[in-house]
Amino acid sequence: AVQRTFSIIKPDATERNLTGAVNAVIEKAGLRIIGQRRIKMTQEQAERFYAVHSERPFFGELVEFMTSGPVVVQVLEGENAVAKYREVMGATNPADADEGTIRKLYAKSIGENSVHGSDSEENAAIEIAQFFSEADIAG
Ligand code: CMP
Repeated sequence: AVQRTFSIIKPDATERNLTGAVNAVIEKAGLRIIGQRRIKMTQEQAERFYAVHSERPFFGELVEFMTSGPVVVQVLEGENAVAKYREVMGATNPADADEGTIRKLYAKSIGENSVHGSDSEENAAIEIAQFFSEADIAG
């Protein structure tokens, strides 16, 4: 079925001017970018977004990194978009990512891994709603 998923192009990628390069991989995979905005995340936004990881040892580092520079938040749409985008991103740790995936191509480390993608359709809806109103999405 046609689904939406939520994506973030992270500060390590915007810093290296890789927004277009990441978007090219996304579009080549058949996903449509139906919403997109460049923002500087506040600490509150990052803490809320990553609340499920708040007990992890890397939480502080994660929030600090995600607020260290601009990010591009995106809504992607396509057939099986949630699983498709996770495939296109590659494994969380770039050392484990398959050839041709965004993280294999561009990620610097497990923390500075260039992109985020929702892990389920349910979380996609929650994550999209944190950053987008329907008026800013056009499929
Ligand atoms: P993301 O998909 O954005 O969701 C949670 C993030 O936590 C993950 O990508 C990684 O960037 C980050 N992360 C996971 N494990 C570690 C780790 N061991 N050290 C630092 N960051 C991590």
